[in-house]
Amino acid sequence: MTTPATRPPRVLSRDASIAAGLLALTLIPSVAGAFRVGEIAAGAPATEANARFMEMPLPVVVHIVGALVYSGIGAFQFLPGLRSRHIGWHRFAGRCLLVPAGAAVALSGLWMAAFYDVPPIDGLGLQLSRYVVGILMLLFLVLGVRAVLRRDIPSHRGWMIRAYALAMGAGTQVLTTAPFVALFGPPDEFWRLVQMDAGWLINVVVAEMIIRRGRRRHGVA
Ligand code: HEM
Repeated sequence: MTTPATRPPRVLSRDASIAAGLLALTLIPSVAGAFRVGEIAAGAPATEANARFMEMPLPVVVHIVGALVYSGIGAFQFLPGLRSRHIGWHRFAGRCLLVPAGAAVALSGLWMAAFYDVPPIDGLGLQLSRYVVGILMLLFLVLGVRAVLRRDIPSHRGWMIRAYALAMGAGTQVLTTAPFVALFGPPDEFWRLVQMDAGWLINVVVAEMIIRRGRRRHGVA
């Protein structure tokens, strides 16, 4: 029988597990983004794959720098222990870093969806999905800020989880695209849309489950 004295120590605290999971999810798009910014900074030769980024670098650089801040620092906003011990940091990071960075990610994403000459496989369906995701992410950030100004913490938590989950679609999309590309080769326009939308949808469902569980735990309807 295991007693408290003999029970094996928990390798990771709850906070560390949440942070590790979120950072792992964002790792591949963040590395890809850092690579893209490095390529632009170094003035790499334009190819078919990078021409739009080299010709008009500002939106993608804003997008990637915003995404690095939002996903990296944002991962620590959701840690209950850190939040309760360092509420000053939570407020500073939220106001001064994460809301501006999240808005920059969504606005630059919307701009690129509208004006970049994306590959033909990213058809109209994916363009519309990106509009929906970018607009919802902005809306959720605004509702999250409004809720905290009204001291409605359960709503603030919910809107901020929803905004972060939509952004993290970039990470889940690695999981919903890469294995299929490896197994079946590059998708056509329809399957590309299904794979990309699956990443966002999975995150929406998981976010709603987390929000509901939190509300039940705190006895909020
Ligand atoms: C924190 C979350 C996000 C990360 C880490 C991220 C990462 C990236 C990266 C690295 C690129 C450059 C791709 C490349 O170099 O080929 C990119 C492009 C793009 N992202 Fe995001 N992104 C995020 C959120 C979003 C959101 C919420 C939207 C929705 C509006 C969005 C829309 C776009 C668009 C339209 C492009 C240009 C695609 C292209 O021209 O091929 N991203 N993103």
